[in-house]
Amino acid sequence: MAAMALSGTGLFTPAASISNDELVAAFNEYVRRHNKAHAQAIAEGNVTALQESSTEFVTKASGIENRYVMDKTGILDPDIMCPRIPERSNDKISILAEMAVTAARDALKASDRTTADIDGVLVACSNLQRAYPAIAVEVQDALGIDGFAFDMNVACSSATFGLQAAADMIAAGHARAILVCNPEICSGHLNFRDRDSHFIFGDVATAFVVEPAANSVGANAWEIVSTRLKTKFSNNIRNNFGFLNRAAPEGIGTPDKLFVQEGRKVFKEVVPMVSELIVTHLADNGVAPESLRRLWLHQANLNMNQLIARRVLGRDPSAQEAPNVLAEYANTSSAGSIITFHKFSDDLKHGDMGLLCSFGAGYSVGSVILKKLGGAR
Ligand code: COA
Repeated sequence: MAAMALSGTGLFTPAASISNDELVAAFNEYVRRHNKAHAQAIAEGNVTALQESSTEFVTKASGIENRYVMDKTGILDPDIMCPRIPERSNDKISILAEMAVTAARDALKASDRTTADIDGVLVACSNLQRAYPAIAVEVQDALGIDGFAFDMNVACSSATFGLQAAADMIAAGHARAILVCNPEICSGHLNFRDRDSHFIFGDVATAFVVEPAANSVGANAWEIVSTRLKTKFSNNIRNNFGFLNRAAPEGIGTPDKLFVQEGRKVFKEVVPMVSELIVTHLADNGVAPESLRRLWLHQANLNMNQLIARRVLGRDPSAQEAPNVLAEYANTSSAGSIITFHKFSDDLKHGDMGLLCSFGAGYSVGSVILKKLGGAR
């Protein structure tokens, strides 16, 4: 089978960002108001008092310090505590497609390709803003691409699953090159009133081009040496929002219609699943872990990434070997590992090897072994 390449990446970063201090101040104001409003019921034991959040906890437990968002004002208003993003009329591009298009233009430029070279568009992300038509078809239209497009959702692993799907479709002769976009407005599904998770997510969009390695000319093009995907059902990261909600109106607006997780359990169960999959994937391809110059891991938790990198490399990773963007971007779901790759790969040399890996709800894991094609020798 002809070798495929990840031939260029793109990134769209929202203008507004929120620091832990700002987020925690808004949350704690909400808690104070709630406890004051329910003071009597709390005193009578009929309502549980809410506890305040803390910047120290968030930074230490997750490594997150800031997050970019599409709307800051609504999130920080203790009476609202969610983004306010006005609906657009159907003759305007949707906000998710707009973010994807911006990242896509960047990826096309990086891969030295024009829209005329692309036959397929995938929008692979956690949170699609509508049921249909597919956001991917709207992105295809906005970019003027002739071919096919579809949406796919494997939560935080959507980008690596999209990468394998794109590589397989090109290898099967269904397209010459495919554009994969990962627009994520994670603030839309985050419960900013939940102390356990209100700090986790940020908004962003990434994109990348997949094409045969023999055709790729991007300065930072990487051969896709091998991909491996795995899923295993778990309820520990779940969101019950969906089109059947209106058929059970008593559940509309309840917290399970937003992101809910058992963070501690996720940590404990996903670290071994991911580490074992990476170690086996490398061994099956004859790639020694010590030959990896870089690990571009999913960005959910700094401690988690350090543990996974340690299990893969057999020692503590340096900051350069396993870079993180959590402090600046927080968890951006499917886009996290691609942001890290986008920001920390062009310094490597021709022939260097690295590993891109995403993991998250499902559970799902996607591992991609990469070898640099472009770059200095
Ligand atoms: N501020 C202050 N304290 C908080 C807090 C907050 N915002 N949230 C929780 N705490 C407290 C808890 O009440 C608990 O207190 P206790 O020990 O007195 O019971 C303590 O901090 C530890 O809580 P815990 O939930 O066990 O924290 P943690 O160390 O597991 O960190 C996460 C929480 C979410 C950061 C971490 O579990 C994680 O990132 N897990 C992986 C999640 C993941 O990868 N998800 C994928 C999503 S796509």
